[in-house]
Amino acid sequence: MKKWYSVIGDPIAQSMSPSMHGTWFEENEVNASYIPIHVPVDQLEQAVTGLRTLGCSGWNVTVPHKTAIIPFLDRLDQSAEHMQAVNTVHVLPDGSLVGSNTDGSGFVRSLEEVYGDRAKGNPVLVVGAGGAARGIGHALHSMGYGPITFTNRTMEKAEKLATGIPGSSVLSIQEAEASLTDFGLVVQTTSVGMSFALEGMPLDPSGVKQGTVVADIIYNPLETEFLKHAKEQGALTMNGVGMFVHQGALAFETWTGIQPDTEKMTQKITTTLGG
Ligand code: ATR
Repeated sequence: MKKWYSVIGDPIAQSMSPSMHGTWFEENEVNASYIPIHVPVDQLEQAVTGLRTLGCSGWNVTVPHKTAIIPFLDRLDQSAEHMQAVNTVHVLPDGSLVGSNTDGSGFVRSLEEVYGDRAKGNPVLVVGAGGAARGIGHALHSMGYGPITFTNRTMEKAEKLATGIPGSSVLSIQEAEASLTDFGLVVQTTSVGMSFALEGMPLDPSGVKQGTVVADIIYNPLETEFLKHAKEQGALTMNGVGMFVHQGALAFETWTGIQPDTEKMTQKITTTLGG
């Protein structure tokens, strides 16, 4: 029987996941559909019950449900447990719902697809201390990157995050700007740069040294002001398209056991976004 998968969020119309997973199902001759569903905050529990009842085989979870969905699942894997956030739900043959989080490992995979292990063995600066920073921080640490330093507008949030990741530390934005040459990898995880409402940079990257890998998890615009400035200093830059594609690929693998073509998809999405 044809299977179906989904993504739930609010808003959901802008999601590129349906087109990405639809393409991968086709390319891999998997008989399945992937349907976006708009789920407002106050209907999350009913939505999970509905997905379960209607035989959905798995779904992605996006803003604002990543943490709120946890009580409605049967268990979490280690990634979701660490991050206290879920972006992928897998329905096991016995009907139980397992939550995982592929955002952080998606970032590390995309980094390695582009730059191999060039950034390994160097101190890492993570800009931001929200959900995305937590996922990426845990994934980098568990993949042997670091030591990791967090910097954030609100220092207390960076301090709290750093206590959960062994060997990590914090700097104020000003301190981080003044010591950028110490880092071999800089990862921008805040929402600053994403839109006109949030234009600008969370930190001035003028001090990065040539050859530093500088990543921004934003993919629309393809080149944020932060990345543009870092590139002008001779940094090796990477936008967020690869992370988006790899978090999806890891979900796809969880559901189907198949590794989809991520390079072709990264190209396709970059072209769609005007690159
Ligand atoms: P996400 O899950 O996308 O990480 P989040 O948990 O709301 O979202 O975290 C947003 C991050 O962007 C935080 O690091 C936040 O900084 P604060 O902790 O100080 O709020 C950062 N951020 C958002 N708007 C910002 C702005 N205008 N200037 C600087 N940092 C900002």
